[in-house]
Amino acid sequence: MTGSTEAGARVRLRRLYFVYDVDPRLAVVRAEAGGVLVPGDGPVRPRLMFVGEAPGAREAKLRKPFVGASGQLLNDMLESVLLDRSEVFITNVVKYRPKDNRDPEPAEVGVGRVYLWKEHRILGYPPIVALGRHAAAALMADPTRIGTWQHVGGTPVLALRHPAYGIYQRNNQPLMFEQFKAVLNAPQ
Ligand code: URA
Repeated sequence: MTGSTEAGARVRLRRLYFVYDVDPRLAVVRAEAGGVLVPGDGPVRPRLMFVGEAPGAREAKLRKPFVGASGQLLNDMLESVLLDRSEVFITNVVKYRPKDNRDPEPAEVGVGRVYLWKEHRILGYPPIVALGRHAAAALMADPTRIGTWQHVGGTPVLALRHPAYGIYQRNNQPLMFEQFKAVLNAPQ
């Protein structure tokens, strides 16, 4: 019995990642990553679900999303709005590290989309924050509208710039921190 309890949600998430890990449509990127899967991380009844692009080297090493430089900036942005990482769930469109950090293929994003909505259901339908254009493309009809909440089906989704955008050009950070405040205003 896995019902709607938190323990049940954990079991359902584990099963989902088990299925993801044998999905034949992801064979190429799985092989590139040496089979190392980076699952989503966080509480199963989160305030928000954050979606990034794909794990990098450090994430693959620790098997945890957003634990490298981008993760540090994401932590700082969360802190700036008085949110703690322990309150949010963080996952990626692609859960394997693509070779040389290449962009995900559209087909990989398409497969990722299916699993993201299943994760979302298991997590109890939290509002979603899409970080970067691949996450936005996976989740929304108009992925170019950055910084304003949109409804996708019944779910509020907010597209923001990927933290890496603030790492490669630090002068982007003030705007990113400003736009990040919107995470607190998810519509019902
Ligand atoms: N960038 C991402 O998109 N995801 C991670 O997990 C780390 C960096």
